[in-house]
This record gives sequence, C-alpha cells and structure tokens, in this order.
Amino acid sequence: KKKLLIATGGGDCPGLNAVIRGICKRAKKSKEWDVYGSKEAFNGVWSEPPYIIPLTSKRTAGIHVKGGTILKTTNKADPLHYPVKDESGNVKFEDRTKELVERIKDLGFDAVINIGGDGSQRISKALYDHGLPVVGVPKTIDNDLAGTDMTFGFQTAVQIATDSFDKLVTTAESHHRVMIMEVMGRDAGWIALHTAIAGGAEICLIPEIPYDINKLVKRIESRYEKGRGFVNIVIAEGAKPKDGTVVSREGEVGSKHVKLGGVAFELSSQLKEVGVRAEIRETVLGHVQRGGTPSAFDRVLASAFGVRAFEMVMDGAFGKMVAFVNNDFVEVPLDAATKENKVVNPEGFLVQAAKGLGISFGI
Ligand code: F6P
Repeated sequence: KKKLLIATGGGDCPGLNAVIRGICKRAKKSKEWDVYGSKEAFNGVWSEPPYIIPLTSKRTAGIHVKGGTILKTTNKADPLHYPVKDESGNVKFEDRTKELVERIKDLGFDAVINIGGDGSQRISKALYDHGLPVVGVPKTIDNDLAGTDMTFGFQTAVQIATDSFDKLVTTAESHHRVMIMEVMGRDAGWIALHTAIAGGAEICLIPEIPYDINKLVKRIESRYEKGRGFVNIVIAEGAKPKDGTVVSREGEVGSKHVKLGGVAFELSSQLKEVGVRAEIRETVLGHVQRGGTPSAFDRVLASAFGVRAFEMVMDGAFGKMVAFVNNDFVEVPLDAATKENKVVNPEGFLVQAAKGLGISFGI
C-alpha cells in the first residue's frame, strides 16, 4: 500500500477534523493507501523519533463534529523560516525545505496533504517545488484565502460572533450604551461585515474602509437624538481610522510579528476623546470565534474538501489546492492560494447591501 501523510498547520479552525476524516474515509474506500498524521504541522516529521500516527478508522470515527484538530497545530513550524541557534545562542532563520522533503521521503511517504491557510500553502508550494507530491486544503476562519470563494471555519466564526452580538444588543438597549464588539479576521473584514449584517449593527468598521471618527460620532449622536438610545458597533481587528496610525495588534502569525487585537479599546478612547457622552463598553471576542464545534455548513465544506483532496492524490493532481469556486469543488494551482489575500471589495454588493440596511462604515 502507498503511504499518505496529513498535516494541519497555522491557527486551528472548526472543520479541520472533518477534513481529516473525509480524507481517511475516502482513502479506506480506495484500499490502496494508508493514511498517517504528522503531529503539530510538520514538527512530527522533524522530531526524533518522528511523531507520526496512523490515522485508523478508530482514531477518526466521528471526529467531524469536534472543533480543533486531533493532529494539533502550530504556526511556528515553517520550514522556510526554521529557527536555528548559532554558537552565541542567537536565533537565525534558515530554509530547511529540502531537508524536510528528504525526511518525508525517507519515512516512506508517497504524498502529502497539507491543510492550512496562506502560510501553510506557501509551505505546500515550497515542498512541491522541491519534488514532494503535495495537495493543499484551504483553511481559515478569516475567509481571506485567495483561490477559493469560501474556507471552512468562516461560517462557524460568523455564527459565534453573531450569537455574541445578539447578546450584546439586549444589554446595550437596557443601558442606552454604545457597545463595541471586536472580531477577528486579520487584514480582512469578512467576519465583521457578515456579523454586522446578520446581527443588524448600526456601525461596521473594516480594514478595507478606513473610518472617519467624526462621521462615526455623527451617526452615534443622531441615533441618540432620534431616541434610539443605544448603538452596536462591530469592528474588525484590522480596522483603522482614515488619518490615524492605530496599530494595536501584536503577536506571532506564522513567521511574521504582527499586532493583534485591542482596536475596540482604541476606538472607545477615540470616541471618548471626541466627546461622545454615552457610556461605552468594549468586548473583544478573541479565540472563542475559533472554538467549539463546526457548523453543519462547515462540516459539509470540510468533509467534501477532504474527499476531493484525496481524489486529487489518486489522480496525481499535485502542486494544487482543492477549492470551492462558483458553488463547485475544483482544483486550483497552489500559486493561486499564495497570492495576495482576498479582502472585502468596498464597492462590492455586500457592502452596498449593508449600507442599504442602514449600516454605517464611518465614511
Ligand atoms: O487567521 C486566523 C486568526 O484567528 C486571525 O483571525 C487572528 O488574527 C489570528 O489568527 C490570531 O492568531 P493566534 O491564534 O496566533 O493568536
């Protein structure tokens, strides 16, 4: 039998286990492949002895309903930026892709399915360019991966954010408050925009449309003047004011150091500074958006991605990623996924629809 290795990389995401199960179920039907999983992205391959587990039916049965990944994950296992200490103990980064490919081949693997976001698919591409047969599966709650209309995890994140938003509305209403809810999404406003529409927010702030603080104040005051004594704002973690340099996101994402989270508090102090009199409260949703069980839609998307990815392995369609485009499951080159991220089009219909629903973007 041939040997297939699966890895999950980057941040976790509801639906990862459904992809793993989809691959394994389809592989079992093929009777030609045994499937294994590398623990914590490709760290399982590097570790001595390798930490690679057989993905038996017993291990994968029913896991599609569970969040997270049974293989564990990390965004600190990038072979393109492998941390190595020099003699004086300083850490420098080296490209270890070639060694990783050799190790995977030495372990007897015939193909790899790498499940992950843009960083992981950049790794898939590098492994493929070094001669490893690789298929990619797109993953991110942010929905910002190019090459696919939709990624699993996004719909679940929007549902979690909407449920939280609904809860904030009743307390905002009771206290005549301005509620600011910060959602994830990196530099894309997809989660914020969908949540604002689903929840019925008054204001939605996204990175793609830098906001004008004075316009926001006007919108807030006019709500209070009309006697609608509360305002609900959804702000994406990457949102920024037009003329400001607000950057309050800090953390490691892949090999990049970026600032993460906290814009809700910055917006709150900006609004206070310009004289908004209403009481303001901030909620940063954070990682709850990535936790728990995947929605039915995400289970379907992820399971179908898994089946299709395995069929691509059988067909020898390597150097490609499975994608959901125009309501269909297709193959796209890995390059397509590693191009610029897909962000909200400020002129697109969804923004227009939001405006039509009375949502202000602070412009
Ligand atoms: O890309 C998914 C995501 O959850 C982003 O929305 C967020 O900016 C980032 O990951 C958080 O990363 P970490 O889990 O490393 O804090």
